[in-house]
Amino acid sequence: MRIITLIILLFISLNAKYLDTKSCKECHEMIHYEHTNSMHHKSSLFKDELHRKIKEITTPDKYSCALCHIPAATNLRAIMDGTEQPNSKSKKQSDGVSCFYCHQITKVMITKHKNINFYSYKDGTKPTFFGNLNNVDSSDKHKSNSSNEIYKNSQVCMGCHGKKYNKHGVQICSAVDEKGKTSDCIGCHMPKFPGGTTKLNKRGREEYSSHEFLGIRDDVMVKKAVELKLKFIDKNSVELTIKNKMGHSIIMQPMRLKYVETTVERFGKIIWKNFDKYPIDDEEATFTRLFQDDKMNRVFPPFATDIKFDNNLKANSTKIITYKLPELIKGDIIKSQWISYVIRPALASSLKIMDKKMTKKYTGVSVKLEVK
Ligand code: HEC
Ligand code: HEC
Ligand code: HEC
Ligand code: HEC
Ligand code: HEC
Repeated sequence: MRIITLIILLFISLNAKYLDTKSCKECHEMIHYEHTNSMHHKSSLFKDELHRKIKEITTPDKYSCALCHIPAATNLRAIMDGTEQPNSKSKKQSDGVSCFYCHQITKVMITKHKNINFYSYKDGTKPTFFGNLNNVDSSDKHKSNSSNEIYKNSQVCMGCHGKKYNKHGVQICSAVDEKGKTSDCIGCHMPKFPGGTTKLNKRGREEYSSHEFLGIRDDVMVKKAVELKLKFIDKNSVELTIKNKMGHSIIMQPMRLKYVETTVERFGKIIWKNFDKYPIDDEEATFTRLFQDDKMNRVFPPFATDIKFDNNLKANSTKIITYKLPELIKGDIIKSQWISYVIRPALASSLKIMDKKMTKKYTGVSVKLEVK
């Protein structure tokens, strides 16, 4: 097993000359701007406070996370097994999931516990970047190749997002859809914006693929996560339907908390709510994943031997919850609201997270029903 890992890591090390993210700015100004504000650029432990803190608690001496969080590192293997430590002065590391790294992936290999990114071996100095442009123009900085299917069918995302299991065989995350396939990640996460691919735009292109990779930290995206519907059943019950509209499960990253808050309002006062203090008191409407060890104590994902709590909903799937309410009268308003947090608030405060984007409450879609 170890030998196989070793061989694979040899294959994926970068052999062509590394061009750092800043060097793309000269020509791809807009894409560079978007990318440097994205979580891909901030994926390393130098730029992501949450990632760094979880790493320090769970694996203080090793940085096995490097495989996906600083994949361009030259000494990837040594950093992963702890013989060398991450270095903030190295561009290849602080660049995180860099332009160069993503655009050199030739193939994604599906293995049991995590998928693996492959590179074609190149010893030259001028790298080839894969993409999806029709009739691509030439550039003196790099070669281009638009014939790699994985940049069209989103397979390129699956090397890192595909899945992860811990050493006890417990699944930590998975981005496959309801049929176990890869959905159109690029279609939803790289929408086309007006403008050219390069500053000069010699090909006169009218749109380019955005590189913000927005997700749970964006109010507009959070509004697209689910569809909610409310329906009267009788005088004292309603039915809430939750449909996951995304191409993956509601919960992929286990630090997240997403839930529906449902209230009944009478004369401007809330007379009923689906949970008292903590959303998890309504287990059916709370989406999160908690892990436990052999003694059934709550633990961080790397130490888990089992799942403690798992309420999740696969891509395009629907869930119906029926609520018993106090007897409804004319004028009562029933309201359901989607809410999500990058980190469960209790965990965020115990980790003393300072980044506001991580502790903020994001509100998604809401629906209302009035008793006539
Ligand atoms: C197989 C690839 C892979 C490995 C290995 C990996 N991660 Fe990640 N990690 C990801 C991906 C992909 C995301 C984004 C997932 C999402 O947002 O749903 C992520 C996101 C995270 C986040 C959320 C960050 C944020 O700011 O929202 C944390 C925390 C995290 N990882 C911790 C770790 C730690 C700690 C390790 C090592 C012990 C690790 N990861 C190893 C792929 C990986
Ligand atoms: C000197 C200018 C220049 C620099 C610097 C540059 N590029 Fe390009 N790149 C181009 C041009 C020109 C094109 C073709 C644009 C077109 O056809 O509209 C291109 C196209 C691409 C494509 C599309 C390939 C395809 O087949 O679809 C990718 C991907 C790409 N560049 C990535 C990068 C990355 C990553 C960097 C930084 C490491 C970078 N470029 C730096 C000029 C440059
Ligand atoms: C080399 C590994 C790698 C590849 C390839 C990759 N990602 Fe990521 N992605 C990550 C990591 C790691 C994070 C989390 C960074 C963090 O939060 O610290 C992430 C974060 C994200 C996020 C942001 C989530 C948030 O917290 O807001 C989205 C959306 C995303 N990726 C989509 C994609 C899509 C779509 C593709 C394919 C075009 C892709 N990724 C390819 C590693 C990768
Ligand atoms: C039908 C549209 C759609 C498709 C297809 C899709 N996503 Fe998403 N994704 C979303 C929306 C909307 C969000 C933001 C809402 C949320 O995170 O709750 C999101 C969130 C994310 C996040 C952050 C989630 C979190 O909880 O941290 C990651 C990472 C991500 N997507 C990656 C991917 C990858 C990889 C694929 C392809 C396998 C993909 N997405 C396919 C719509 C889509
Ligand atoms: C997470 C992986 C990932 C990262 C990081 C990334 N790209 Fe891309 N890029 C893609 C994918 C996938 C496409 C194809 C999008 C499509 O077909 O709509 C693409 C398309 C492009 C294109 C072609 C333009 C177009 O409109 O399709 C250029 C140029 C490009 N990227 C440059 C860059 C530069 C420069 C950076 C860094 C500043 C960067 N990319 C970072 C995945 C990535």
